[in-house]
Amino acid sequence: MNPQKPSFSSSISTFTILFNCVISLLVVAKTTSDHDFPHFESSTSFIKPLDNPKNQTPPRPPPPPVPPLSPPDCTVWTSACSEEVLRLAKNPENTEWLKSIRRRIHENPELAFEEFETSKLIRHELDNMEISYRFPLAKTGIRAMVGTGGPPFVAVRADMDALPIQEAVEWEHKSKNAGKMHACGHDAHVTMLLGAAKILKAREHHLKGTVILLFQPAEEAGNGAKRMIGDGALENVEAIFALHVSHQHPTAIIGSRSGPLLAGCGFFRAVITGKEGGAGNPHHSVDPVLAASSAVISLQGIVSREANPLDSQVVSVTSFNGGDDLDIIPDNVVLGGTFRAFSNTSFYHILQRIEENRPGFSDALQQSTSEKEYTIYPPTVNDEKMYEHIKRVAIDLVGPTNFVVVPPMMGAEDFSFYSEVVPAGFFYIGIRNETLGSTHTGHSPHFMIDENVLPIGAATHATIAERYLNEHG
Ligand SMILES: *[C@@H]1O[C@H](CO)[C@@H](O)[C@H](O)[C@H]1NC(C)=O
Ligand SMILES: *[C@@H]1O[C@H](CO)[C@@H](O)[C@H](O)[C@H]1NC(C)=O
Ligand SMILES: [Zn+2]
Ligand SMILES: [Zn+2]
Repeated sequence: MNPQKPSFSSSISTFTILFNCVISLLVVAKTTSDHDFPHFESSTSFIKPLDNPKNQTPPRPPPPPVPPLSPPDCTVWTSACSEEVLRLAKNPENTEWLKSIRRRIHENPELAFEEFETSKLIRHELDNMEISYRFPLAKTGIRAMVGTGGPPFVAVRADMDALPIQEAVEWEHKSKNAGKMHACGHDAHVTMLLGAAKILKAREHHLKGTVILLFQPAEEAGNGAKRMIGDGALENVEAIFALHVSHQHPTAIIGSRSGPLLAGCGFFRAVITGKEGGAGNPHHSVDPVLAASSAVISLQGIVSREANPLDSQVVSVTSFNGGDDLDIIPDNVVLGGTFRAFSNTSFYHILQRIEENRPGFSDALQQSTSEKEYTIYPPTVNDEKMYEHIKRVAIDLVGPTNFVVVPPMMGAEDFSFYSEVVPAGFFYIGIRNETLGSTHTGHSPHFMIDENVLPIGAATHATIAERYLNEHG
């Protein structure tokens, strides 16, 4: 995710809404401990009289052994099912395994489409779990499968890439690759999805369909999601989920919303070329500087005059280049900028307006020629039913006080490419811990996470997938 990219105009920063004032007031409710099983409690109280020295009655014969509760079938989800998933996720051996995976990935961050070692580590772990997969998709990506192998198919995705940032956190597992860092938490995303894989494999006999685990390259740059889709990541898939760690929520708080969650973000570049005067006339009859200037003004007008002010949108021209000569009109001017919007309709409307030449707005602009190119991340839009599913799973797993509804944010995510193809649900999981100092925003060289989030993230992913299959199988 790109919480602060691009840091262009002041108008953008006004839209970078901070919402921790709502969330930081919440206290993490104590979740039931792994070992608090109802049948253990009742057997403990049964032997209590033996501890009482004043008890004169002869010792009773030991109680018959409590038969182990048969694990619930979980077709209808109960709190015992949540307990069982949390027990698998939070057992100390598993927690240590999760931490060691995350630390190994953190030490060896790899940039977009170069996630070779990360991908190898993931495949090695999948081999250990005897989980089958397809490789490669999108150069380093992996599509793994757990379950019956038949429909329905539900996907869960993690991104693998790091950022070109020098880590400033001094700790034992600091990045060993100069100038590269997992400063967006994708190391944790991969770890949580591997953790979910392990839980799902252990519960494979419960699955009423197939879970597709997608390990994706190049979220930060290069539209990895788009290439994953092109390589068949979503074959047969009817719904997809993903999470992102968030420094704005205390550890393991889960947050999401229905509808637009993250803005669409696009970049454009246009080369505006003037027109030569007649033969022998060295002057341009259409001045590209004038035409480009008029284009800038018309671009500003898209938002200021056409947009609904309640529907946040930004169009900013951030570069304007006609060369360095002071005594000659350039042949062309290169114009570039960015645009953002939350609603899908507004986003594609802006894109269309930028593509248009706005004929008649200016003679110069009309007569010039321009070539344009775009990079876009559409808005990330949560399907209402998928959002409800995340909410239900989160509340049952971590308790109602640990789920929050979040406002939309101006960041962008390439998960949006999946959300254009199948119903999708995206959510945040908190990593903020004042004691540890994990309070820095993603893309900061000081970014760090509270590793206690790892088992909860794994359990959430696994439960979202298993319950989806139960309800749609
Ligand atoms: C957003 O609009 C585009 C273009 O109209 C469409 O292809 C896409 O499916 C829409 N996405 C969602 C989530 O509705
Ligand atoms: C923060 O981290 C410390 C040390 O790991 C831990 O004891 C504490 O419970 C954590 N706080 C939260 C809110 O998770
Ligand atoms: Zn990011
Ligand atoms: Zn990210």
